[in-house]
Amino acid sequence: MTDSAKPKNLTHANGAPVTDNFNIMTAGPRGPALLQDIWLLEKLAHFDREVIPERRMHAKGSGAYGSFTVTKDITQYSKAKIFSEIGKQTDLFVRFSTVAGERGAADAERDIRGFAIKFYTEEGNWDLVGNNTPVFFLRDPLRFPDLNHAVKRDPRTGMRSANNNWDFWTLLPEALHQVTIVMSDRGIPKSYRHMHGFGSHTFSFINAQDERFWVKFTLKTHQGIENLTDAESAALIGGDRESHQRDLLTSIDKGDFPRWTLYVQIMPEVDAVTYPLNPFDLTKVWPHKDYPLIEVGVLELNRNPENVFAEVEQAGFSPANVVPGIGFSPDKMLQARLFSYGDAQRYRLGVNFNTIPVNAPKCPFHSYHRDGAMRTDGNHGARIGYVPNSYKEWQDRPELNEKPLALRGDAWHWDHRLDDDYYSQPGDLFRLMTPAQQQVLFENTARAMGDAAPEIKQRHINNCTKADPAYGAGVAKALQAADALAAAE
Ligand code: HEM
Repeated sequence: MTDSAKPKNLTHANGAPVTDNFNIMTAGPRGPALLQDIWLLEKLAHFDREVIPERRMHAKGSGAYGSFTVTKDITQYSKAKIFSEIGKQTDLFVRFSTVAGERGAADAERDIRGFAIKFYTEEGNWDLVGNNTPVFFLRDPLRFPDLNHAVKRDPRTGMRSANNNWDFWTLLPEALHQVTIVMSDRGIPKSYRHMHGFGSHTFSFINAQDERFWVKFTLKTHQGIENLTDAESAALIGGDRESHQRDLLTSIDKGDFPRWTLYVQIMPEVDAVTYPLNPFDLTKVWPHKDYPLIEVGVLELNRNPENVFAEVEQAGFSPANVVPGIGFSPDKMLQARLFSYGDAQRYRLGVNFNTIPVNAPKCPFHSYHRDGAMRTDGNHGARIGYVPNSYKEWQDRPELNEKPLALRGDAWHWDHRLDDDYYSQPGDLFRLMTPAQQQVLFENTARAMGDAAPEIKQRHINNCTKADPAYGAGVAKALQAADALAAAE
């Protein structure tokens, strides 16, 4: 018998052979089970613990490995080694996701999409944890848990609630920009391959001369933008709840590797003071006419994970994962995210989540963090775990510190509504749409508002009118038509 033809032995977790995986041990053929059937106990006990907490949002997702290749020189803006020369390749892992649905939700729902990238650079992991939209609903992180409570299930009915969702959104006029995108024809991408990606926040670059630039990231799909209508998505979900996962998996399996070009927008540090918009406001874009897109390189996905739980479910991304040459900005939303992701992963995956292979850096990594649940990497063996020490064990690198960032201002709960231009950019976006796209926006909005209370619908019409009177009028008309249709049924 060849080795591959030989049956492979099943063992207990302790390595001992399992003698019977088909008949539990009982007292007599009809008798009750015996506690000494340790295989039954082990098998059930492991099964009972198979499910880990799902991500609070972005629970449904798909992942793939790939690489990033530099095509243009941006070393004048960033000293990050990932960008150091044209042609340089860096391995990466991407996880795409929907946001509001739970782990078993259908893929083709109207929602924003997560686009999280982990670049395994030679100086540590850089995570760009973005979405398929350039802006977000909020600009104060205190609202983030509320956003999720409003778009997820109602506490009494256990069902999603258009009323809760739109009550919340319409009370936050800064959400209108993002709401306009989600209700537009781009609100249901055909697949993860057919959408752009955005870092959304403003981040910073530091170059070798220690100059700081503010930067935004955009990824443009090579597959083209393709979307689904509400009717197409309803029909699709009826037959296939995993359409995005299937699309990504099969296209990579057959060698049709999806690609995106990465671009940056660069703002010199001093411009932030005089630029008419708050460049750290996540509800606004930087118009390309002010800060054009600069090409950086191409991201390709070319390998599917072997095991979805190990590599996709256990993946942990965080905006806090940056490397020398790439940094943060004063964006309050970004600042809050720097805490929330690692915190969620310590809860969801355990304190040693960074040693899980998909999360572990591919460069050497050393720290004095020790012990903790599920420490499986040897825990640095006999090495001492304190600093300062006399043995030249791992030292920090002050020479890599960013230059100081000048901050000023009195500590206070500053009202971000004092900067109250919520409407110009959603209005600009609306006016960029063709009449057909505007009509799709009106009708998608009316369907999505469903059975929300009339005063909530009116509040949305008022917000849209402030962005553009034609936007408000179009939504009002579509809502009337939807009401007439519902009354006739
Ligand atoms: C996932 C918090 C805003 C993109 C998550 C998770 C948390 C979180 C706790 C789950 C992490 C995990 O369990 O691994 C927050 C907070 C925000 C915020 C507190 C605002 C204050 C944003 C924004 C974006 C974004 C603005 C995009 C620009 C994502 C993505 C994921 C995610 C893509 C899924 C990552 C993955 O695939 O594992 N967020 N988030 N989030 N968030 Fe946010």
